[in-house]
Amino acid sequence: MEWNQLGRITAPLLEWYHENQRCLPWRENRDPYRVWVSEIMLQQTRVETVIPYFERFMERFPTIASLAACADEELFKLWEGLGYYSRARNLKKAAQVICECHDGQFPEEYQEILELPGIGAYTAGAVSSIAFEKARAAVDGNVLRVITRLTQDERDIADAKFRSQVTKELEKVYPTDQRGDFTQSLMELGAVVCVPNGEPRCGQCPLCPLCGAYNSGTQLRYPVRTKKAARRIEQKTVFVLRFEDKTALRKRDDKGILSGMWELPNTDGILDGQQAAKWLAEKGFSVKGIKAPADGSRTFKHVFTHIEWHMACWIVTCDNEGSGNDFTWVTDAQLADEIALPTAFKKVYRACSV
Ligand code: ADE
Repeated sequence: MEWNQLGRITAPLLEWYHENQRCLPWRENRDPYRVWVSEIMLQQTRVETVIPYFERFMERFPTIASLAACADEELFKLWEGLGYYSRARNLKKAAQVICECHDGQFPEEYQEILELPGIGAYTAGAVSSIAFEKARAAVDGNVLRVITRLTQDERDIADAKFRSQVTKELEKVYPTDQRGDFTQSLMELGAVVCVPNGEPRCGQCPLCPLCGAYNSGTQLRYPVRTKKAARRIEQKTVFVLRFEDKTALRKRDDKGILSGMWELPNTDGILDGQQAAKWLAEKGFSVKGIKAPADGSRTFKHVFTHIEWHMACWIVTCDNEGSGNDFTWVTDAQLADEIALPTAFKKVYRACSV
């Protein structure tokens, strides 16, 4: 279809959504706090993964004020495994701003929403339309896939200018009511029918008579995306240091990946046994035993957006807590119940704790 025909999608999409929407916990009501938290959690994360996190989060922090007042450690523990911890940090910061500057009420004006920490055009559009029924679009990867297939638009979806043009064009065709449903219908169609990675389910699509890609059999050509830069590979050696019933942890730097989070002690590069012994001696450890885990769990890979960590590890039994280092020793129970350890390190810890 041509761009100037976009208004033809509104009615069939709404009708389809009313028949086919999934029952999801953040759709129980239009509370802006719930909409906001769910949209942040859903960035880069699948719906099935998010559901239990969302439910636990809402139970523990039922109000914006309770989130604003929480301890970081508890917040990160609830977020453990979801990744991109800056999302959680920004949720708390924004909750504090809402308490200080908006009387604890989530702001209704688009521009005010956009000014909150961690909120960009996508999230501001989603909350404005879903919670406040404004004619604001929320354009994410799902929506871009739907729209570029419909219009057979070959422009690069990674281009911010193109995204904002799609947002503007969509906002022209918003209905006069059910605007939140319209936003969600686009997301839903992209998530369950107009899917990525293989054949979309065009047989179930309410828009297929209008769809340029369907009518020419070119669904898989869209969306067009310029090649992403290859991920940088970083090699690391990770230590699982045990002293009595405790394991050594350290806080990461305030800058860069996983900033401010806990980590297992580690160093750049892959160290052999001798090099590992030297590293431990430098940290003042008296080593009782050092071993590699059983074959098959000797190396670990963890993929971030732009970086890949390839980790080797050593399991070390110590006779002391070392000296002059910045390690914190914690029990298995503390790690299970209180401390958030990012998944990259959790993988190593688990494999080395059996
Ligand atoms: N993905 C992003 N936002 C969503 C929502 N509100 N419902 C389902 N999937 C989504």
